[in-house]
Formats: sequence, structure tokens, C-alpha cells
Amino acid sequence: MKLPNLNEARKRSNSEVDYIYLNQNYNENTFKGQKYFLRTYGCQMNVHDGEEIAARLESLGLIVTDTIEEADVVILNTCAIRENAHDKLYGFLGRCKHEKEKNNPNLIIGICGCMAQEEGVVNDLIKKHPYVDIVFGTHNIHELQDLLIKRNGKQNIEVYSCEGNVYENVSYKRDSNIKAWVNIQYGCDKFCTYCIVPYTRGKQRSRKSKEIIKEVECLVKNGYKEVTLLGQNVNAYGKELDNELSFAELLKKVSETGIERIRFVTSHPWDFTDDMINTISECSNIMPYIHLPLQSGSSRILKLMGRRYTKEEYLELYNKIRNTIPNCSITTDIIVGFPNESDEDFNETLEVAEYCKYDSAFTFIYSPREGTPAAKMDDKIDMETKEKRLHRLNEVINKYSLEANKKYLNKIVPVLIEGISEKDPNKVFGYTDTMKLVNVSNAQDKIGKIINVEITDAKSFSLDGKAI
Ligand code: 5AD
Ligand code: SF4
Repeated sequence: MKLPNLNEARKRSNSEVDYIYLNQNYNENTFKGQKYFLRTYGCQMNVHDGEEIAARLESLGLIVTDTIEEADVVILNTCAIRENAHDKLYGFLGRCKHEKEKNNPNLIIGICGCMAQEEGVVNDLIKKHPYVDIVFGTHNIHELQDLLIKRNGKQNIEVYSCEGNVYENVSYKRDSNIKAWVNIQYGCDKFCTYCIVPYTRGKQRSRKSKEIIKEVECLVKNGYKEVTLLGQNVNAYGKELDNELSFAELLKKVSETGIERIRFVTSHPWDFTDDMINTISECSNIMPYIHLPLQSGSSRILKLMGRRYTKEEYLELYNKIRNTIPNCSITTDIIVGFPNESDEDFNETLEVAEYCKYDSAFTFIYSPREGTPAAKMDDKIDMETKEKRLHRLNEVINKYSLEANKKYLNKIVPVLIEGISEKDPNKVFGYTDTMKLVNVSNAQDKIGKIINVEITDAKSFSLDGKAI
């Protein structure tokens, strides 16, 4: 049994990262024909981890089900970024406990993901939720099969609070056969003062570029149309390695594989280089879409957040991107109600939002995360004020999202069609190069293809169009 430890998770040393080439073959019949239920919350990194977890479960003969009632194994892949994640965990546990007590005493319950890296959460699982069978962290996913096979009737907890390694030869059960996530980097060394990620996911470790290219080439060969390069700070790619490509150089190499569409998330404004901007503007298969988290428009708050840029520097970068990649869509993340954010600070955030006219934005009320520096700051701002600010900010954000979408009206744009629309089975949905969601009529037979679509209607969060 190995428990998470916050002090260990905080450590950063100069020790080299181990690149571990997995060679795991499971010929295990214990679970043959049994069913698993997997629920994943959180960011793209977690979603992609979910694809690894699914592949691992299936390597033991398990098959997927979408109900807890049918399952023999349930796994909850958690997110820890904000407090509300806890409600989701305990809501889920309540349902699983009920199922295990009333209907299926052999049900195996597993908890993993970022919350499993939190000391407080795991201590609580030990003390109050003994019916949870296995807990594994973000550094232990490769041990999932062993954890399941070697259960001995006791709660089995394996959570390393280490700086982390890089695992290669990982199998994924990808959710889509059209677009794929590709990890280029794990962990984060930025330690923004509000953020739990550097503690739950370890230090920044970049994959070797030749492994990334190999993976993308394989995806191209298998007919994939789009890759999204994943990392907590993709544009800091390779910085901790000697003789590795920069992110701009990596983008170029990925572009040369011939994959039709390349995206990447998430960029940190601090690491954004002119080379990157030029590469995006020069390579037609790198999509003109940049997620550029602002977090706050006040330089005072940005300093307290440890973001390493001022409002002016952010705006300078924003203008450079707009001027070099004119059709680029730019989205952002903004936190309101950071400890002691004043009306003036908040107004600066509004001003930046008004200036940048983002294509869309994720907006959040600051949520204190145990163990982070900001959680220790005395905060005099009440929740009602924070909620009002969020509401006000969302009004501005939504106004410009709609405005940005309206610019597409009557235009013909390329859309990668991904599947049947959830709202209307007679329509399909897909995304423009600028990452606008479009519901398209007349294109049922075009799934997996990039087609020209005439935009007929624009709402705040999506477009409607018809194939031409
Ligand atoms: N409270 C609120 N929002 C947060 N984020 C990260 N940590 C917190 C927190 N403690 C937001 C940031 C980040 C996004 C993924 O989540 O805006 O960019
Ligand atoms: Fe969190 Fe900052 Fe790292 Fe993003 S860059 S994961 S906000 S610490």
C-alpha cells in the first residue's frame, strides 16, 4: 500500500526522468466476459487517461457497459481542479455503495485520477469508505491490471507522490477513430498559486519527439484526421531536456507527417514564442485556434497568482497573434474572486475581456485547493460578490462569443464531420478549423470527412449549416 503525500508531491529535483518502455502482456482470464463502467471527469488529460484505463481493463477481458447496475468493475477517474469535484466523487460513491450492498457484493469499486493524489481524499476513503476496493493515482495507471488481479479482499491503495516518469508503448482505447489525443508532455512546474495540478501530476516531463512523431505517423496510417497535442504547458515542451526540439519545431515536424489537422492545448502565455506564432501561420494543417488562459486582467492579481506575465504583456502577445494569424480564434480561462480581488482588479479583467473579444471562455469562481499557496491567503471577499462578478463577466464573454460566431453567417467553411448530432438525429456535427461547433444538415454520409459547409445560423455556443 502506498499513500499520497503532499510534501513529496511538492518536491522538484534535478534528477533525470526515467523513460520506461512498457512491455505488458496480460493473458488473464479472471475477468473474461465481465463488465466495466468507467466515468471520467475533468480536463483533456484526464479524458485521455480514461482511454488508457479502458484499454487496460479490456486487456483483462472486461467489456464496457454504460450502467453501474450491469458492471462488475466500476472506475471513477476524478478531477481535483475545483472543490465541486468532491461532490461528484461522493455522489458516485453513494450510488456504488448502494449497488454493492443491495445487489452485487462482488462489485469492484476503483477510484483514480487527480483526487486520488490528494492526501485528504485518500485518508477519507480509508476511514469512511472501506467498500472502495482499489485506489490508484495518476502515476500508477500502468499498475491497474496488477491491482485488479492481485486483490486480496483488502482495500488496495497505490498512489505515488513522485515527480513522475514517462511511459512509452501505452495502449489506448480511443473514443474516436477520427481525432486523437497525443500526450507530448506530462506534469507542470509552473506552480500557479491557486492550482493543484503540479501536485497531482508531478513535474514537467516531455516525451521524446521521435516517439511523438511515431505515434502521429501511426495515427495517420490508421486514417485519423486530427491530433490534439496534449500537455499542461504545451509550449514549454522540451525545455527541461537537452537536445530536444522546441514546441515550434515539434509543431513543424508533426505538420510534416501530413495529418490533416493539428491542435494543441494548453499554452501558457509566458512560454509563447514568435517562432510558434510564425509556425502556426505558415503551416496550413496547424489549426488557427489558440487557447490562451488569461486567469485575470489585473497585473496585481496575476502577480499573486504567480502567472509570470502582466496584463500589458498578455495584451502584447494577444495583438501579435491577431496580427500574424488574422483568422485565428482565441479562447481563454478566467478566474474571478481570487483572494482579495478588488472591484478595480475585476474591472481590469472585464476590460481585457472587452478588448480581446474572445471566441469563447471558461470562467470560474476561485476555489481554494488544500496545500496550494493561495489557499492560505486570508480572503475578505464574500461569495455573493464573487458570484455577481462571474455573472457580469459571463455577460461580456457571451456577448463576444455570439459576435464572433455571427461573423461566420453565410460563409463557407471547412468542417471535420465527427458524428450524429446529439440534438437532432437528422444532422451531423463537426468543428471548423477555428474550433467552432457546427450542426450540419445534408451530410449524414460525410462522417470522418472534411467538407465545405455554408453557415446558416449563429448562436453563442454553436453554428448551424448545410453541406454544399
Ligand atoms: N479555482 C478555480 N479555477 C481554477 N483553475 C485552476 N485552478 C483553479 C482553482 N483553484 C482554472 C484555471 C485553469 C483551468 C483549467 O481551471 O482557469 O486554466
Ligand atoms: Fe495549473 Fe498554472 Fe500549471 Fe496551468 S500552468 S496546470 S494553471 S500550475
